[in-house]
Amino acid sequence: MLNDIREILLSEEEIDRLTTDLAERIDRDYADRNKRLLLLGILKGSVVFLADLMKKIKRPVEIDFMKVSSYQNGTTTTGKINIILDLHRSDLSQLDILVVEDIIDSGKTLSYLIDYLKLNGARSVKTCTLLDKPSRRQVDFSPDYCGAEIPDHFVVGYGLDFAELYRTLPFVGILKPEVYEK
Ligand code: IMP
Ligand code: MG
Repeated sequence: MLNDIREILLSEEEIDRLTTDLAERIDRDYADRNKRLLLLGILKGSVVFLADLMKKIKRPVEIDFMKVSSYQNGTTTTGKINIILDLHRSDLSQLDILVVEDIIDSGKTLSYLIDYLKLNGARSVKTCTLLDKPSRRQVDFSPDYCGAEIPDHFVVGYGLDFAELYRTLPFVGILKPEVYEK
């Protein structure tokens, strides 16, 4: 697996610092502990990030997951969002939802989900992503919390996959183009 990585973009230490900073900001912004904060992880890419982030947040949080698909052709987005696993909760009106994502590319997944959750009555909806590739945006969208903005490279590790592999790497690395071009 390591042979397929061109360059490490974020080391374990850098990721640790980023998640610590994000957790501190979230604790500060969601200071009212009487309100219910739901960290909503988007499967599967966000699981490693969410697991680290939630351990560093000191206020009470609930966690849940949704699964959507947007990527069907290897490394390019099809733009169409399908909900594969929905959030099965009867009443969202008491919940402040923070959607946790691994990476934003076109922005279509998160802007769709925000509309969807608001339509379903969530008290508030914000977004937290580990990585953002702003140069790839196809819709007007910016996250409320972002670990790092990165250039337009296909990256893997720390939850992010190519063809379901590389998620278990403890760092974020740029995949060698020959891996996905073959
Ligand atoms: P968007 O809807 O185009 O913003 O797509 C975001 C989703 O695309 C993320 O949740 C990832 O699953 C996937 N994605 C985008 N860029 C990358 C990447 O560089 N590596 C791995 N997955 C990516
Ligand atoms: Mg994803």
